[in-house]
Amino acid sequence: MDNLLLKIDQYKTEISNFIASDGETAEAFRIKYLGTKGLVKELMGEMRNVAPENKKSFGQVMNDFKVFAEAKYEALKDAESNNGKAAADELDLSLPADPLPLGSRHPISLVRNRMVSIFQRLGFAVAEGPEIEDDWHNFTALNLPENHPARDMQDTFYINQNPDWLLRTHTSSVQVREMEKGKLPIRIICPGRVYRNETISARAHCFFHQVEGLYIAENVSFADLKQTLYFFVQEMFGKEVKIRFRPSYFPFTEPSAEMDISCLICGGPGCSVCKHTGWVEILGCGMVHPNLLDNCGIDSNKYTGFAFGMGVERITMLKYQIKDLRLFSENDVRFLKQFTSAV
Ligand code: PHE
Repeated sequence: MDNLLLKIDQYKTEISNFIASDGETAEAFRIKYLGTKGLVKELMGEMRNVAPENKKSFGQVMNDFKVFAEAKYEALKDAESNNGKAAADELDLSLPADPLPLGSRHPISLVRNRMVSIFQRLGFAVAEGPEIEDDWHNFTALNLPENHPARDMQDTFYINQNPDWLLRTHTSSVQVREMEKGKLPIRIICPGRVYRNETISARAHCFFHQVEGLYIAENVSFADLKQTLYFFVQEMFGKEVKIRFRPSYFPFTEPSAEMDISCLICGGPGCSVCKHTGWVEILGCGMVHPNLLDNCGIDSNKYTGFAFGMGVERITMLKYQIKDLRLFSENDVRFLKQFTSAV
């Protein structure tokens, strides 16, 4: 009996010290002390072993112990529900949510998308092709046979595994693929990434983006080319922009030209951006060389066409006055964030 009374005293201290925390809840307390297999029940069972003359006083001790444990259980339950209530009181549903930082499109994507949508309004469809090309589509079909000196205009990355494979140097290769399909008329633009083995600097990189265009139908003239490009620059840079064509050479076009726009920075008198000429070169263009049409099985007596090609980086640099081409591929968020609200 003395042993039992000692045990009960120990349990009482345990109960007084019980704190419902760390996942221990009032329910865990109930199971341990008041449950059907709990300590109170277990101690009651000891009654059989208590001498008859002590049964009454032991019964009383046990009863006190039970009441003590039940009171603690009630206190634990109250504390728990008050906690929940306090938390609910602190929650202010009218507060605005934490701000989500907005990402922004890369300036190259912004300008590429803008270019695509301008040409789409003129009826041009988007055509895409592989970045790893074969010699035929990148060079030979474009009137650039092997050993043609003009191949040097575009320093090329060749693929070791197969000397016939290379990283496309322009998206004119997509135009060849489209011409080979033989479905006329063709009115496409070819946006995409191109590669050239050039030393990286503020004005050149080993990869950049192009948008090239091709229109082949009956009676397509240089006037159509000029008007298309004039519409494009006005939509891109504003109505006041002027254009001029300078004769040039490309193996795939004849005649060929380079097109300049009036300098957007100084508007004519000359500044450092236009190298004090008042004009900035933006693209190459010309009438599709008849050899190309023949190479792709298109009747060059019936069809004529024009083609043009420009660098997206160059247009972006002019549009947003960016001075260093390397910024586009460094992924510095301080640069990229500046385009959050650009359209
Ligand atoms: N493919 C040429 C280049 O990348 C651009 C161009 C396209 C020029 C079409 C004329 C006509 O340099």
